[in-house]
Amino acid sequence: MFNPIHHMRLITDIVLCIFLSRQNLICNRSASSRSQDCATLSLGDLVSTSSLTPKPICYEHLIQGEIEMGHHPVEDSNRSNNRAFDDIIQARFSRRRLLTGTASAATVGVLGSMALVGCGGSSNSSSDAIVEPSDQATMNPQSLGFEAVPGGIEDRVILPPGYKADVLFAKGDPLFSGLPSFKNDGTDIDYDSRSGDEHDGMHFFGMNSAGQFDPDVSDRGILVLNHENLEDNTLHETPTSKADAISNGNLLELKKIVDREMNGHGVSCVEIRKQNGKWSVVLDSPYNRRLTIFTEMDMRGPVAGEDFVKTKLTPTGANRYGTMNNCANGHTPWGTYLAAEENWYAYYTVGDIAGLSDKHRAWMERYGIRGNGWNYRQWNLIPGDQYERFRVETTGGSATTDFRNEPNLHGYITEVDPFRPTQKPRIRTTFGRLSHEGAWLAPVKEGKPVVFYSGDDARREYMYKFVSKHNWNEADRNGGLAAGDRYMDEGKLYVAVFNDDGTGVWKELSHDNIELSGTHTYTRNDNSWDYTFDTEAEVLASARLAADVVGATPMDRPEWATVNPQNGDVYLALTNGNTSNRPASSTDGANPRAINQNGHIIRWREAGGDHASTTFDWDIFLFGSDADASSDYNVSGLTADNEFSSPDGLFIDPRGVLWIQTDDGSSGIRSKTNNQMLVAIPGEYGDGESVTVTTADSDNQASIETFVGQPAEAVKLKRFLVGPNGCEITGISMTADARSMFINIQHPGEGGSKDSFNTNVSVWPAGSRDATAFGEGGNRPRSATIVIYREDGGEIAL
Ligand code: FEO
Ligand code: CA
Ligand code: CA
Repeated sequence: MFNPIHHMRLITDIVLCIFLSRQNLICNRSASSRSQDCATLSLGDLVSTSSLTPKPICYEHLIQGEIEMGHHPVEDSNRSNNRAFDDIIQARFSRRRLLTGTASAATVGVLGSMALVGCGGSSNSSSDAIVEPSDQATMNPQSLGFEAVPGGIEDRVILPPGYKADVLFAKGDPLFSGLPSFKNDGTDIDYDSRSGDEHDGMHFFGMNSAGQFDPDVSDRGILVLNHENLEDNTLHETPTSKADAISNGNLLELKKIVDREMNGHGVSCVEIRKQNGKWSVVLDSPYNRRLTIFTEMDMRGPVAGEDFVKTKLTPTGANRYGTMNNCANGHTPWGTYLAAEENWYAYYTVGDIAGLSDKHRAWMERYGIRGNGWNYRQWNLIPGDQYERFRVETTGGSATTDFRNEPNLHGYITEVDPFRPTQKPRIRTTFGRLSHEGAWLAPVKEGKPVVFYSGDDARREYMYKFVSKHNWNEADRNGGLAAGDRYMDEGKLYVAVFNDDGTGVWKELSHDNIELSGTHTYTRNDNSWDYTFDTEAEVLASARLAADVVGATPMDRPEWATVNPQNGDVYLALTNGNTSNRPASSTDGANPRAINQNGHIIRWREAGGDHASTTFDWDIFLFGSDADASSDYNVSGLTADNEFSSPDGLFIDPRGVLWIQTDDGSSGIRSKTNNQMLVAIPGEYGDGESVTVTTADSDNQASIETFVGQPAEAVKLKRFLVGPNGCEITGISMTADARSMFINIQHPGEGGSKDSFNTNVSVWPAGSRDATAFGEGGNRPRSATIVIYREDGGEIAL
């Protein structure tokens, strides 16, 4: 009797076997190839290729159901007991009385010379002069000139009176004129030539008429932005396209879907110009390009070429393919873009890893690479090295015949030169392997090291900084990736210890650090694995473990950092905690609230104003809170005009104005307002007082003395923007003249139903591309870059 299920399985077997046999011919992709290369093969072509010898296949891959995860998983693998409760009660509370008052003009003048150069200074400037980013921008303003926006839940962007915003670059927008318009019905496939999904970190690089980086140019430039992840509910043809392709064993269909997903990630570089007061994308610009998960990149720094980064696809360990889960970003004084990789660990499934050493098992566990439910995208179901690399296993027998080492290639910082589009991106392994949120430059100073700050965004993870070996030389401005080699391939990685007395120490993570010698043990769920740090490369590739050993302070999820160009203070958003990771029994001065559902923003000043210093002093700039919470909890005195939760994006613009963007999932504030962007005049480290914060989890209460900056009213904190339904606000950059601000609306419609393609939550943006307009019914919501202007052409926020 004809059995259709059996018949289908037989055809699937044949197709699978042929795919496996031909994987190097069919499915390996070069950096320049496009998804159409593979998609042109028909099922008939494959089935008729009968001369190829079938191989046995493993159906285990295909029967795993797709694991549903939110757009933003949060890793939790820190089993260190750093900063245990016993330490806290023994800590000193003897800090000096804090200063009060705001920065004086004289202070700003002294500090300004080291401040402005890296954040909008002229490309040929000397670090000894105060560099104005524009003769039109107001430096060090002390007041804000807009009316606070009320919180709200509307499916559009809400701005203060007198402001407008256009949708500049939305998911699916083409980079080249030959492409059809984005259909937004799930059938578009060529995301390697269009905007990817889930816009996140972003930087505007001004470009002069010679095509060179010039941060003073405010009407032409290259916008570079990350595409962090995918909106699964809106990306494909039907709500069940991927699950159907998997359950039906339809590999051709599944490959199309997987290519769409892999190309929907990465980075966009897009030239934009302002004409007649309006910005638009320059189609067909030679600077337009997409980096995806297929793009070849060079490994650099101590990890490059190590045995533990050699794989079947990259047998020398000198290169890798793609960048993924690029959350926030950074930029360099030499005109390049830094894309961080945040939740890269979640893309791997794990097979038989019996051949891994204990050390590498410890690495897998500490970075959360466990399969068993963390199998995220199932790209490994497609035959071919470019796809199978997402399944970690030792079954090939050696590192260069399987993908046991693939995860060791990711989790660093990707450097991209927007002005030299033919150059391959370079992976800067000196920044360590983490869930990097971003990489934020401290203002550079001639003859001093170049310093970047970078947080590890997972629960109870740490704050790091990288200090270059070579000192900054102004001749390297516009030096591109060659300058990156000089400043980023040699240097020291540090991790922060925040003491309860308001002081802090940067602990060196290097092979020279004697604390890292000997054998250590990582324990999880009653299993344990020994590890050592035998080389500098091993310290970097297992930076989390090294940070555990030196006693780094576990933080409430480090998100963005920013450095005040006016005084060098560093600000870090700690987005939130939860009951299990911040119980009352493990609060500390820098993370003083049990559970910490609403997050806070900590700041510090490096000793002597030197960003390469190994000591610092800290206080807490602002605490997130519901305005209606008791004053014990609402420590910063937030009101209806500025209540916020889960700070994420942070940016102090070249004028010294602080911007806060939120990624609030489900706190009580989300019932009052969509995610938002606020503005403040940030004051300075030490301008507040010591306070005792008392909070409780369900079992215990904790009272912790800490240090808070001026209240919200004193720093003039005001809500500037509210986003459409379901979105998070992220990505931020501003032109030197402070007349154009670029931000990203990420995942509008999140929380909607798969059956409605999230349209039951959002249909933003509108076809008119007015970001403040309501979208049309039935439109699948799209992540997008918007550009904000003042209607009278004036400076934003003042
Ligand atoms: Fe992608 Fe940590 O936010
Ligand atoms: Ca973020
Ligand atoms: Ca976030």
